[in-house]
Amino acid sequence: MERTFLAIKPDGVQRKLIGEIIKRFETKGFTLVGLKFMSVNRELAEQHYDVHKERPFFGNLVEFITSGPIIAMVWEGDGVVSAARKVIGATNPLTAEPGTIRGDYGANIGRNLIHGSDAIETAQREIALWFKDEELVNWQPTLTAWIY
Ligand code: PPS
Repeated sequence: MERTFLAIKPDGVQRKLIGEIIKRFETKGFTLVGLKFMSVNRELAEQHYDVHKERPFFGNLVEFITSGPIIAMVWEGDGVVSAARKVIGATNPLTAEPGTIRGDYGANIGRNLIHGSDAIETAQREIALWFKDEELVNWQPTLTAWIY
């Protein structure tokens, strides 16, 4: 089953949006298989955003993600990588569609509340970076088996 990595960034945590954000993926029908509330050190942040290291905002990105606690999560389901990106909305909250997380709650590209893996290969890399195997729970929700 496909998995994706999602992280509620420090602004999402500080604005008390953890429950609201998690609810959107639960009610969509995806399955939570990993979650931790944690601080991010500079080394992990730089590894996570390594692909963006030549971009002008890289320093700000690392500074921000290490500025306060985050929620790191792994979610599972058919097509979850691209579907989660749709639930999240466009990178810039000012142009993100209403009904998406960023469209409904964000107003600043540098403070866009949540990260979601952009492709299946990226998700595999990010899950391995943020979670040990034993931190992930392999389970199937038996009462909602009809969703898939
Ligand atoms: S994406 O989501 O990877 O397709 O978007 P991209 O535009 O490539 O952006 C990569 C990450 O950088 C963040 N970002 C910025 N942060 C601060 N300032 C500016 N101007 C900016 N532009 C993009 C963007 O939110 C992506 O981070 P994540 O954590 O993946 O959302």
